[in-house]
Formats: sequence, C-alpha cells, structure tokens
Amino acid sequence: MSLTVTLIAAVSADGFISRGKGVPWDLPADRAHFRSYTAGKWLLLGRTTYEEMRGWFRDHTPLVLSRDAGFQPPKGRRVSTAREAIDLAVASAQPEIVVCGGAQIYAAALPHATRLILTRVDERLASGLSFPLVNADDWHVVSTDPLEGCPACRIEHLERRDAGAGRSSADTRFPPLRR
Ligand SMILES: NC(=O)c1ccc[n+]([C@@H]2O[C@H](COP(=O)([O-])OP(=O)(O)OC[C@H]3O[C@@H](n4cnc5c(N)ncnc54)[C@H](OP(=O)(O)O)[C@@H]3O)[C@@H](O)[C@H]2O)c1
Repeated sequence: MSLTVTLIAAVSADGFISRGKGVPWDLPADRAHFRSYTAGKWLLLGRTTYEEMRGWFRDHTPLVLSRDAGFQPPKGRRVSTAREAIDLAVASAQPEIVVCGGAQIYAAALPHATRLILTRVDERLASGLSFPLVNADDWHVVSTDPLEGCPACRIEHLERRDAGAGRSSADTRFPPLRR
C-alpha cells in the first residue's frame, strides 16, 4: 500500500500560517475540521508546534521532528528527518501520515507531500511564518468547499499531479500560495 503524505494547514490569503507564535485565528469550525481529519492518524509535527499542542493528542501517534537527541515525547517518538517519519509510517503499514506544521516542518515535508488540505482564511497577515510556496502545476484541485460556521474560510483539497499528467482547464483557477 502506498503512503499518503498530507499537509494540513490554515493559511492566510497572503500565504502565512502564524504571526510568529500560535495560530493567528480562533476558528472553532476549523479546529473541528482539523480534529475530524486527523482522528486516529499518525502525525508529523515540529517540536514548537508539538509543545503548543501538548495534551491534545488522544488517539493520534505524534512523530516529533527535533534535532535534540535527548528529546522524547511521552507519546509517539522523536524523528530527526521527515524521511525518517515517512519510513516509519510505511514500515507500520499506515495508509497516511498527516503533517501538522509548523512552518519549518511544512517546508521539510512538502517535497514528500501527496495531498494538501488547506483552510484558506480570507484575511491578509502581511508578515509572519509562511506556508511554503506551492507550484500550482504540480497539484490538482480536487475540491473547494465552504466551511460551515466559518464564513471567512474555504477548504481546498489538492492531490499531487502524476508526473506527465495533463492539466484540466479547472486547475488554472488555483493560485499558488505567495507572500
Ligand atoms: N496555521 C496553521 O495551520 C499552523 C499549523 C501548525 C503550526 N502553526 C504555527 O506555526 C508556528 C511554529 O512553526 P515553526 O516553524 O516556528 O516551528 P515548528 O516547525 O513547529 O518546529 C520547529 C522545530 O522543529 C525542529 N526542526 C525543524 N526543522 C528540522 C529539521 N530539518 N530536522 C530536525 N528537526 C527540525 C526543531 O526542533 P528542535 O529545536 O527541538 O531541534 C525546530 O526548533 C507556531 O506559531 C504554530 O502555532 C500554524
């Protein structure tokens, strides 16, 4: 079975995920969407995001990216590269690993990603931590849906395009994420 590597993020209209600390929006509907999508799955997080989410992990298996060999999360385990996390998930026959940020970890995992689940928040932040630039040519927009309870949000689901696959006219609507 091949592994789906999903990046899930809430991203501002100008491509930012944070003003530097914490998620910049208080969006209960998006938190519910995040909980629903990640339930029971293996997650990959940077140590900063992991520390912010401490106590949140229930039926998840968190793999925490850290360069500190002495760091050991009470649940899940430390990994030193995104590749190591992917290899562990494959060895455990997981169907999916969900990359939950932050900015450094999205950048490290994007080359491996096969799926993007983006909450596009209709607000500009002007500065902060960015979601990495995405080349629209590499991705196929599967769906764009409103998020009930969040009028400023829409959920985009993208799948990585197979090498050599053609573009459909609908895909030209997808703007790459830019600062
Ligand atoms: N909007 C969203 O959807 C969303 C989602 C998640 C997070 N966020 C926000 O993003 C912010 C955190 O992002 P961040 O970029 O500062 O931190 P981060 O990506 O969560 O974690 C950074 C840490 O990960 C480890 N790390 C990073 N690159 C590594 C590599 N190549 N190899 C090994 N370890 C590596 C390092 O840990 P050590 O220092 O232990 O070595 C580093 O300090 C928070 O404000 C959070 O709220 C937003």
